[in-house]
Amino acid sequence: MPFYPVQEYGPLMKGMLIGGLGIVHVFTAQFAIGGGLLMIYFQWLAKTGREPLARRFLEGFFKSIVLLSFVFGALTGVAMWFTSIQVGARTIGVMIDAFHWLWATEWLFFAVEVIAGYAFYRTMHRLSDGARMTLLIAYAVAAWMSLFWINGILSFQLTPGSWPEDASVFSGFFNASMWPALFFRTLTSMATAALVACVVINLIPDLSREEKRRLIHRTAHFLAPMLLMPLFGAWFLGVMPPDSRSWILGGSTVMTLFLGIAIGSSLLIGSYAALGLFKGKLTINTATAALLCALGLGATAGAEFVREGARKPFTIRKALYSNSIAPDEVIALRGSGAVANDPWPLRDAASYPNDQVRHGRKVYRALCSVCHTEAGANGLTHLAGTWSPDQRRMNFAKLQMTKPFMPPFAGNAEDVEALAQYVAWLSANRPKKWPVRQNPEELRRIQGWLDEAGVLPATDEQRIAAGRN
Ligand code: HEC
Repeated sequence: MPFYPVQEYGPLMKGMLIGGLGIVHVFTAQFAIGGGLLMIYFQWLAKTGREPLARRFLEGFFKSIVLLSFVFGALTGVAMWFTSIQVGARTIGVMIDAFHWLWATEWLFFAVEVIAGYAFYRTMHRLSDGARMTLLIAYAVAAWMSLFWINGILSFQLTPGSWPEDASVFSGFFNASMWPALFFRTLTSMATAALVACVVINLIPDLSREEKRRLIHRTAHFLAPMLLMPLFGAWFLGVMPPDSRSWILGGSTVMTLFLGIAIGSSLLIGSYAALGLFKGKLTINTATAALLCALGLGATAGAEFVREGARKPFTIRKALYSNSIAPDEVIALRGSGAVANDPWPLRDAASYPNDQVRHGRKVYRALCSVCHTEAGANGLTHLAGTWSPDQRRMNFAKLQMTKPFMPPFAGNAEDVEALAQYVAWLSANRPKKWPVRQNPEELRRIQGWLDEAGVLPATDEQRIAAGRN
């Protein structure tokens, strides 16, 4: 099993950092895709003379697309890579390995998207309507295709098909949740573009109220497909593993809450648009448009959080745990110890009171730090600081039983003891002196708990049962 240098961010949980970046990135990227489609629609309105203001909108709107999606999307995209390799180098490595050429294809489309978009931006005033349309279609198709490729790779993490057994790229890519996720994201993209467009329209100077209303009414057509969201959402829920589903639908309060946020925000946006379209009088002023945009961001955040969270304890279901250990490596690590082969020293080694606590700190870094912090978000001192020593030992050794969305403990009895000492020492506010604890009787008891828990993750049934609580 390979070890990579691990970066920690103090009280910020690593998963949250990636998640937070991811949400901003997804929101911008989906906006860029929907924006492409929306511009095609407006170019068509302009060309056919159906909407004399379409041209103005197009020229104002596109500048913000370029600024927002190219610069911000590209920057957050790079930031995603930068943090991913610090947090989950092995997961990214496995995915690049599995989808090498497909990922290269995605980047190719992204390059086409950028080139077509930039060409349009630079030359639109000089181009004929036909040439404009060609560039816009090239832009939108390339943008959507890059979604197509990345979506297959991401949905693979939750439903990898038969890939873990046969390494079939085809089965991994065209996996069960790929289509509903793709359609859902396409709708989200259109809705996001429409919402941002409403803000942009409000910001165009010297349009009369009536003109604004007309343009907004046009863009609202891009909100109408939201009606199909429940369909694709239900499809997605239907194909996701039953245990993950049970987490979302009540098993984990936090995840259910986030699902609620996603659905609630989408409902609010949808009802507002439906009401307006129905009455034929949709007026959205700047404040409302900004509020709807914020709701859109909230919906994206909720949905992405749920999608990421439902995978636990895996980053690639049944193939790699969240802490970058493969399920079939746990047995060996139970023998050798979790960090026997970890070549990376502690940065602040001198600040620990003894070798056992240093060892515990390394075990924490390897097995726990991807989902926990010491004393910040999901902090171990908050969760287990007040426990008795034996409670800590037992619950750490039987990790997948303690909470079935944690992986089995991938180390030996000494590792458990060291980790328990480390958490106790942290909870005691890092005293300068700390006793070393190596009682053979206690180690035997820990070994008993490790054996009892076994080396397999909690079964789907156990996870579903916990999800009903
Ligand atoms: C896949 C992510 C993940 C990994 C890896 C992980 N945990 Fe957890 N753990 C969680 C989550 C999520 C919770 C729930 C926190 C809550 O209930 O607020 C949790 C809860 C806990 C709790 C509280 C349990 C309870 O009954 O209240 C303890 C203790 C704990 N983890 C210890 C550990 C230790 C020690 C490790 C490393 C050996 C570890 N975890 C690895 C995600 C993880």
